Amino acid sequence: STTARRLPPTIQQLLAREPDPQTILTVTGHIKSVRKQKRVAFAAVNDGSCPEGLQAVLSPGDAHALTNGCSVRLTGRLVQSQGRGQAKELQVDKCDVVGTCDPEAYPIQKQALTTEYLRDHVHLRPRVESIASTLRVRQCVADAIHDYFRYEGFTQVHPPIITGNDCEGAGETFKLSPVAHRAGSSLPPTEFFDRTAYLTVSSQLHLEAFAHAIPRVYTLSPCFRAERSQTNRHLSEFWMLEAEWGFIDRVGDVCDIVEDAVKHILNHPRLVGDLELLWSNADAERKQGVLQAKGATPWARMSYAEAVKELEKAKQKFEFDPVWGKPLQSEHERWLADEVVKGPVFLTDYPSGLKPFYMRANDDGKTVACFDLLVPHIGELVGGSLREERVDLLDKAMAHHGLDRGDYSWYRDLRVYGGAPHGGFGLGFERLIGWMTGIENVRECIPFPRWADRLLL
Ligand code: 4AD
Ligand code: MG
Repeated sequence: STTARRLPPTIQQLLAREPDPQTILTVTGHIKSVRKQKRVAFAAVNDGSCPEGLQAVLSPGDAHALTNGCSVRLTGRLVQSQGRGQAKELQVDKCDVVGTCDPEAYPIQKQALTTEYLRDHVHLRPRVESIASTLRVRQCVADAIHDYFRYEGFTQVHPPIITGNDCEGAGETFKLSPVAHRAGSSLPPTEFFDRTAYLTVSSQLHLEAFAHAIPRVYTLSPCFRAERSQTNRHLSEFWMLEAEWGFIDRVGDVCDIVEDAVKHILNHPRLVGDLELLWSNADAERKQGVLQAKGATPWARMSYAEAVKELEKAKQKFEFDPVWGKPLQSEHERWLADEVVKGPVFLTDYPSGLKPFYMRANDDGKTVACFDLLVPHIGELVGGSLREERVDLLDKAMAHHGLDRGDYSWYRDLRVYGGAPHGGFGLGFERLIGWMTGIENVRECIPFPRWADRLLL
């Protein structure tokens, strides 16, 4: 940097330095615990920048004012630690309590707090180690995504959040209307735009427009779905990584990029400390599964038809019979990933009746060139396909799905004016975080989760 440094180092930055008893430093953070002895006291301080936190060594007099949760500014020197458990510690010369915290009333107590309780205190829960870890993992995964796609020649684009269509055609869109209405407007009071507006369920259709102008595009953006499902993998507001690119003719090419991108993310070196912390709260097999998946072995691929045959062999295990032409239930998806493959598996070529209008028809007239990537414990992590670029077949598919051609004329134009074979995918960001960390529910993978009947804060 060319300007003078104005911010004190974060604890993560500090711990990366060599100890130096000559240099006076300032550190800020929250107190996690205090241990007083006769002549000396130890305080665990963290600012949320890393899993480890910092041990501060101070006088029992200074420690007197410290309580769990209070925020402090400490001035001192980074030295080699004499004790076990940490390599470096801060010898404190001056300790200022910047914000006090009543330890009796503080909702974030030191003993383990239940997931439910923390959801009720969603504004304070980032101070809990595991939640702070998740926030850092989100950042790291986003960085790894940007690294990967930039390296592969993709451009990050900014598709709209407000749209005029329901990309997936599943009827799970949130409708948007203004609270107040402009006096004298000729529009009905519930409308603002010249057509019904929705919050986007997926940026795909807009990405297809970008991908016909810039060769390869991607976005990491919020999506909204009014799904009532109360499962461990559904949110009303979630983030999706979506990529779209042209001049491909095999759905396997899309799977290749997905596998390569996810492996790149899993191998990101900055993830290690936080993953170890989060894995220590999860079943050992979750960690093993992720370590195995990030290795060099290619992930399994099978067609939907093969998957149904596989499921038929274990029919008695399921509530719903696996039948060709019917959607796979989450019990089926989990069985395939957890028990049959014991790892990630791409299922390809689903019956066209199960998938949205935009997927490219296969020559068999029954299936489409698509895939779902299933992973253990979660089920579906990614959905993708080649897109139908042949105008006659696209028109047929839109008619079949009962879509108004007028509404999609712009989408048709992409084919009419120099359309190229293209494809892409969408990956659920919180599901990825959940799978790779072993966190049970996506509600703990996003800072402020929203789900049906629940909008706290
Ligand atoms: O399978 P989906 O519905 O596919 C699409 O939206 C495509 N248009 C994407 C594309 O090809 N560009 O959603 C993609 C992924 C799912 O596999 C899942 O991981 C995640 O988005 N997802 C959700 N995550 C959390 N909560 C929800 N309610 C989700 N719905 C989908
Ligand atoms: Mg899907």
